[in-house]
Amino acid sequence: MVRKRTCVFISGYGSNLKNLIKNSRYQNFPIKISLVVCDNKNAKGLIHAKKNSIPYLIVDTRKRNFEHKILKKLKKYKISLICLAGYMKIISKKFIKNYGKKIINIHPSLLPKFKGLNTFKRVLKNEEKKTGCTVHFVNEKLDGGLKILQKSFFIDKNYNEEKLKEETQKLEYRAFSEAIIKIFRYS
Ligand code: GAR
Repeated sequence: MVRKRTCVFISGYGSNLKNLIKNSRYQNFPIKISLVVCDNKNAKGLIHAKKNSIPYLIVDTRKRNFEHKILKKLKKYKISLICLAGYMKIISKKFIKNYGKKIINIHPSLLPKFKGLNTFKRVLKNEEKKTGCTVHFVNEKLDGGLKILQKSFFIDKNYNEEKLKEETQKLEYRAFSEAIIKIFRYS
């Protein structure tokens, strides 16, 4: 099996990146993490790229040409899948069009509920009984592309934001890898 060369975009802690790297050590996992892109030079998650000798690119999103820089690197590293794993910058329509290959994102809610930021706070405020995570294709609408899969759990009355995040992220680690296996199953 030829494994798809994949780039993971991060902004912060990188726990999803860490899990994708771990799972990609299995020979039958369909992707290989070949590049990491990060918009925050102080992101803790960069440690996972460094520790695993994965090339990484730090971009300054205040610069006008930063997406062009990313596209050049993606081409250089022959990347055929982008995984957005806690990348907190909105990808432009132009970028999506110019890249032209698969981009997937993980979001910590049962989309279409709670698109955007501060998800856990809003889930609790809304007194939801159930929550979870969604892996979906990225299109020009925020958190709006075709769903690949969702995983859910019931919210305990005692959960605070921190606990909700912890439980959601436990599911995310499985959901991201399962979604990747699902999209490449027949290719
Ligand atoms: C994840 O929970 C992911 O779902 C969320 O950011 C977190 C990143 O954690 N993404 C979004 O909210 C995107 N709208 P990580 O850096 O530890 O993987």
